[in-house]
Amino acid sequence: MPRKSARNKQNRPVIITGNWKMYKTIEEAAQFVEALTPLIKQSPLSAYLSVPFTAIHSTAELVKKLDAPIVIGAQNMHDASEGAFTGEIAAKMLKDAGAEFVILGHSERRHIFHESNSFINRKVKKAIAEDLQPILCIGETLEQRESGKVEETLKSQLLESLKEISAKDLEKVVIAYEPVWAIGTGKVANADDAEKAHLFCRKVIAEKWSQEDAAVIPILYGGSVKPDNAGALLAEPDIDGLLVGGASLSPENFSQIINSFKV
Ligand code: 13P
Repeated sequence: MPRKSARNKQNRPVIITGNWKMYKTIEEAAQFVEALTPLIKQSPLSAYLSVPFTAIHSTAELVKKLDAPIVIGAQNMHDASEGAFTGEIAAKMLKDAGAEFVILGHSERRHIFHESNSFINRKVKKAIAEDLQPILCIGETLEQRESGKVEETLKSQLLESLKEISAKDLEKVVIAYEPVWAIGTGKVANADDAEKAHLFCRKVIAEKWSQEDAAVIPILYGGSVKPDNAGALLAEPDIDGLLVGGASLSPENFSQIINSFKV
C-alpha cells in the first residue's frame, strides 16, 4: 500500500509514531503488527513504529506482506558509516534492515547515555545523507522548567542539534518536543503549554532559517500521550503529530490514538 499521509489544516504532514523503547521480541512485534493493521484501516494516516533493532527486519517484511499502512523505524544510530564501535549500529544497516526513519536525541539517550547536542547533530546529518528521516527529540527537564529555562533549553538544543543543516536538508527533518518531566510519568503537558513550546520552536526555526521553513516543518509532541488526550493535543494548530511511548505498546491504545486524528 502506498504510504498514507494526511495533512492538517496548516498543510503539514501528520505523523503519529510509536516508540517501543526496549520492549517486544520479534514474535511480540509480529503479533502487534497483525493486530494493529485492521484497527487503523479507516485512518488517513500510516502508523510510524520505532521498534527495537532486532525487530526491524522482520516487522518491515511483515508490513510488506500484509500491505499494512505502517512505516518501520529505529530508535537510535551512530553517526559513523562503519568502524570499530562495539555495540553501535550504522544508518546504512538500519536502511538495509528496512527502517525508513530514526529517532535521534531522545531524552533517554541524552540523559542515561550522555549524548551531547554535537553528537546528535552528527547523527542528524548522517541520517539525512543516508536517506533515513530523522525525528529529532528536544525537551526540558522539570528543573529547567521550574527555573524558567524552557525557551533557553529548547533554543540551544534546536540550534546545536541542527547546526549547519541547510534549508534543503531541514525539509527532511521532523522535530519532537518531549518535555522530560512528562515522559513515562503520566503528567502530560497540557495542550496549551505544548502549543506554546511548539510555537516557540517554530520561532527559533524562522529566525535561523526562514519563515517558510518554520511553516512547513512537522513538530510532534511526546510525553504521556494516551487515547484520552491525543485528540486535544492534535487539535492545537502547531502540534503536527505525536510520539507515543507506553501507549504504543498496545495495539488497542495505539490505534485509538491514531484514529483520534480526523481530517
Ligand atoms: P511515554 O508516552 O511513555 O510518556 O513516553 C514518551 C516517549 O518517550 C516517546 O518517545
